[in-house]
Amino acid sequence: MQGGSWKFEVDVDRVAWLTCDTPGTSTNVLSATVLTELAAALSEIAQLEPRGVVVRSGKRSGFVAGADIKEFVELRSPEDAYALIRSGQQVLDRLENLACPSVAAIHGFALGGGLELALAATYRIGADDASLALGLPEVQLGIHPGFGGTVRSVRLIGVRPALELMLKGKPFKGARALEVGLLDQLVPPSEIEAAAKRLLLHPPARKSAPFVEKLLNLRAMRPFIARQAAAGLSAKVPREHYPAPYAIVDLWLKYGAAGTESYEAEARSIADLMCTPSSRNLVRVFLLQSRLKSLGGKPNAEFRHLHVIGAGVMGGDIAAWAALRGMTVTLQDRSAELIAPALARAGALFEKRLKDPESAAAAVARLSADVAGSGVASADAVIEAIVENVDAKRALFAEIEPKLKPGAVLATNTSSIEIELLAEKLRDPGRLVGIHFFNPVPQMQLVEIVQGAGTNAEWLQKALWFTRKLDRLPLPCKSAPGFVVNRILMPYINEALFALSEGIPAAVIDKAGTRFGMPVGPIELADVVGLDVALHVGGVLAAAFGRQVPEILVKQVNDKKLGRKSGEGFYLWRDGKAVHAPTHPVTVPADLEDRLILPMLNEAVAALREGVIEDADLLDAGAVFATGFAPFRGGPLQYAKARGISQTIQRLNQLATRYGERFRPDAGWSLLSDADRASM
Ligand code: NAI
Repeated sequence: MQGGSWKFEVDVDRVAWLTCDTPGTSTNVLSATVLTELAAALSEIAQLEPRGVVVRSGKRSGFVAGADIKEFVELRSPEDAYALIRSGQQVLDRLENLACPSVAAIHGFALGGGLELALAATYRIGADDASLALGLPEVQLGIHPGFGGTVRSVRLIGVRPALELMLKGKPFKGARALEVGLLDQLVPPSEIEAAAKRLLLHPPARKSAPFVEKLLNLRAMRPFIARQAAAGLSAKVPREHYPAPYAIVDLWLKYGAAGTESYEAEARSIADLMCTPSSRNLVRVFLLQSRLKSLGGKPNAEFRHLHVIGAGVMGGDIAAWAALRGMTVTLQDRSAELIAPALARAGALFEKRLKDPESAAAAVARLSADVAGSGVASADAVIEAIVENVDAKRALFAEIEPKLKPGAVLATNTSSIEIELLAEKLRDPGRLVGIHFFNPVPQMQLVEIVQGAGTNAEWLQKALWFTRKLDRLPLPCKSAPGFVVNRILMPYINEALFALSEGIPAAVIDKAGTRFGMPVGPIELADVVGLDVALHVGGVLAAAFGRQVPEILVKQVNDKKLGRKSGEGFYLWRDGKAVHAPTHPVTVPADLEDRLILPMLNEAVAALREGVIEDADLLDAGAVFATGFAPFRGGPLQYAKARGISQTIQRLNQLATRYGERFRPDAGWSLLSDADRASM
C-alpha cells in the first residue's frame, strides 16, 4: 500500500511492516485522517493473513508524538469530542484484535496517542538510547488518555506505575519502561527490526501486570489506592482548576480498567474534559508555546561561541546555560575572583542536569574565564550583563564594538534601561538588541527579545535564532519601561504590599494569589526576586507611569532585609524556604483576589494599547511562561475575556473608588469588547 501516512509491505517470512510516515512533516501525530488511514491499512493487512505485524515510524525524530492537538480546538461540544475519541479507540481495537501478533518498534518518543497505539500492540520493543521516552502526558493539556490508554496501561503494567505515568505526565525512559513492563525488550537501535521480527516469529506469552498490582486492582482494594492518589493530587493541584488527574483516578476506581465499559467511560470522561475551560486554556497555552518556538523561522546563522560580560547573578548563569546547551562560552569580569563563583555554580548545574560525568566534564571544558575579554573578537554573540548603569554599559559598548566579528549579535541583558539610550553612542546603533533573561536563568523558559526604536530587523531575527539555540522561548517586544513581563508582574507585587501595609497578613495575601492559580504568592515572590531588585524595577515603573512605590518596600531595603538572599524579607528564610508563621484566623477580604489580579490585567491592556507587544496572544504567552500566570486560565487577557470585558472594567472602577486611581481602567479596554468572548 502507498500514499497517505501509512505504508506497508509484507516480507518473505510473511511479516507485515507497517510504517507511519506522514508526508510534509517531521513528526507523526494521530490526526483523525491518520487514524482513518490506519484503519484502512489494518483491514488490508488482515486480509493478507500475515504471521505478524511490526508497527514503526519512518521519522527520525521518533515514533508518534500524540493526537493532533490542533484538532481539539475545533471541537465544539462533548458530543463531537466523544465521536472523535470513540472512532480512534475503535481503530486501535482493530490492531489489538488482529488474528496475528503485533509489535510496536519504538525509537525516540512515543507520547500520548503514540504510546496508546503501542499499547494496543501485542508487544513493544524500544531502541535503547537517550532519546527514548514513553509517556502519557495528557494531564498537561487538562485531559487524560482517550484511545484506551487509561485501561491498557493499568492492565499491562499495573495500577501504581500506570497512575504515575498518567498523573505526573512525565515520560519513562528506556530502563524504567522495561522495568515496569511497558517494554518487552530494550535493544540497541540498530537491532530493533531484527528483534521485532524474532518476537513475531517466536511469540512469547504476553506480559501483564504483576500479581501485587492485580491484587490492588480488586474492587475491595481500589478505594484505598484511589484515596492515596487523590490525597497526593490535592496537595499539588486543586480539582476545580485541574480536574483531569482526578478523573483518571475516578475512572479507575469505578471501572478497574476492566470490560468494554471502561473504554466507553474513558471516552465520555475525556470528551467532557476537552470542553472544560481548563483544558481549552491549557491547549491554548500549548499552542502559544509552539508559536513562540517557531518565531523567527529556520535559523540561518551558526552560534558556536558566546561571550558574556559580567559574571554576576545573571551573566554567570547565562554563560553556564549556554555551555550546557553545547556552546563554547567565554566569561568576562573585572577579575578572576569575580568569575570563580559563577564557574562553581556552572559546575553544579552541569552535574545536576547532565547526569553522566563525561558530558558534565565536556560542559566544564566549554566554559572558560576570560578577564582580558579576548573572546569578544571570535564570538558569534556577545551579551553584556554588567551592573545596571547607563554610563558603564555605554563605556563597555564603545570598547567592544570595534572588536566584534562581522555578523556577531550584540546584546544587553538590561532589565530597565531603554535600548535606544544604550545604542545611542554605537557606530551602528541598529545592531544592539535586548536579550532579557529572567532569574533564575536555568528555570525561566521565557526570554524577552527587546527591540529598540532603531534596532535593525536583521539583528532582531538573529537574536530570535540565538534564543532558540539556547532552547528558550523568545518573546519579542518593544523597548519600554519594564518591557512586558516586569510591567505586568509589578502591579501584582505592589498591590500585595499595599494590602500588607493595611494589616492583612502576608500568608493570607499569598494564599489569595495561589488560590487563583499563581505558582507563588506575591509577597513570597517579592522575597524570592529580591526586594532591592523589586524596588529598582518598581521605581522605574513608578517614574514612567506616575505610580506610587509601597513605603513598606523602601523600608525593608533600607533595613537591608532583601528577601531570600539576605535570610529575611517579608518572611524569614531558612534553607532557601520561607518560614510561615502560624496566622490567627482573619477574615479574608472578599475583594483581595481581584485586588491582586486585576491590576495585572489592566497593565496587560495598557502594554497592548501602547504596542509594546504585537498581540494579545503573545502577551498571554509572556505572562504564563514568565510570571507563571495561572496556565489553566490561559493568560491575563484570556481571563479578562472569560470574565467578560465590561464586567472586568466595572470591577476595576469599583476598586478604583475603594482603593485609589491605580485601579482606573486603562484606555486600552475600549479597544476590546464583549464580542471578544466569542473567540473563547
Ligand atoms: P551583579 O551585580 O550580580 O553582576 C554584575 C557583574 O558585572 C559583577 O560581577 C561585576 O563585577 C561585573 N561588572 C561590572 N562592570 C563591569 C565591566 N565594566 N566589565 C566586566 N564586568 C563588569 O548583577 P546582575 O544581577 O547579574 O545584573 C546584571 C544585569 O542583568 C543588569 O543589567 C540587570 O539589570 C540585569 N538583570 C538582572 C536580573 C536579576 O534578577 N538580578 C534579572 C534580569 C536582568
